[in-house]
Order: sequence, then structure tokens, then C-alpha cells
Amino acid sequence: MVKENKELKVSAIKEGTVIDHIPASKLFKVIEILSLDKIDKQITFGTNLESKKLGRKAIIKISDKFFEEDEINKIALIAPDAKLNIIKDYEVVEKKVVKLPKQIHGIVKCVNPKCITNYEDVPPKFTVLEKNGKVALKCNYCEKITDEENIKLL
Ligand code: CTP
Ligand code: ZN
Repeated sequence: MVKENKELKVSAIKEGTVIDHIPASKLFKVIEILSLDKIDKQITFGTNLESKKLGRKAIIKISDKFFEEDEINKIALIAPDAKLNIIKDYEVVEKKVVKLPKQIHGIVKCVNPKCITNYEDVPPKFTVLEKNGKVALKCNYCEKITDEENIKLL
């Protein structure tokens, strides 16, 4: 059964993935990191929706799309509190939390302009650290730390 309530601001979907509890300010980064602009499925999203936990949250609903674990975990870099809901025949059949990967390959640029990954064709690799509850990425090549605020997607 479709849950009908006043909170359902973006229509329910029949099959697919709902990414919920995205901080409103991170919506477009999540879209970018998952390359949702290149997916030919129906996508709806809402932002600046009310949320008790986040103040303002965003939500993305992708019909007929089920992500691989490593794709999902990329979201943790940007929206660690995001929740994924797997929808089958209108029902939430599974809820997934995103987990920070231990290593990141590609995806993010090293903050150090002199890093080999910024001037040669070497894909960046990082070890993921947590500093004061924030994500920090230590470059496997130059060892410089890219802080959460400086995370730029490739
Ligand atoms: N949803 C949807 N389509 C469906 C079923 C659910 O888009 N057919 C969305 C709901 O709008 C909600 C999310 O999936 O944003 C999770 O649904 P549900 O678990 O029913 O809601 P809550 O209990 O509010 O979720 P939470 O655990 O995140 O508090
Ligand atoms: Zn580097």
C-alpha cells in the first residue's frame, strides 16, 4: 500500500531507490557524485523539505535503479547520514545506511596542486580518515590531507 500522509511531498515510486535525509545544501553534490545526470531513469527530487533532524533536507527518488554497494558508499563522503530505501512494488523492502569507504579511488581531486595526480595521468587514491567527526582524505601519493571543506569532485 502506498503510504498517504501529509509529509509525502514528492510522489511515491513503484520500484527503485529513495535517497533520503540528504542535507539540502548537499543535494547537487550527491547528484554529481552518483552521475545521476547520465541515468536515463525517472528521477524526482525535492529540496528544502522540513526535517526534524537536519532542519532542511533533500530527497532523491530514482525509479528502476538499484545501486551497487561501492556506488552507495561514495555518498558517505558528502552526506554521511543519508539513508537509502529500496522500494519494490511501492513498499520499502530494505533500508541501508551509507558507510565511509576506507580507500577512495578516483572521484575526488587532491588538494595539493603539486601532487602527481594533478599534473600527470595518475588517478587519485586516498585513505579516508575521520577528524573531529569530519571526513578527511589523505593522499596515497603526496600524503597531503584534503579536508571535508576542500573536497572537489573530479
Ligand atoms: N517512499 C517512496 N515511495 C514508496 C515508499 C516510500 O518514495 N513507494 C519514500 C518515502 O517518501 C520516504 C522514504 O521512501 O521518504 C522512506 O519511506 P518510509 O520508510 O515509509 O518513511 P519513514 O518511516 O519516514 O522513513 P525514515 O526511516 O527515513 O524515517
Ligand atoms: Zn596528492
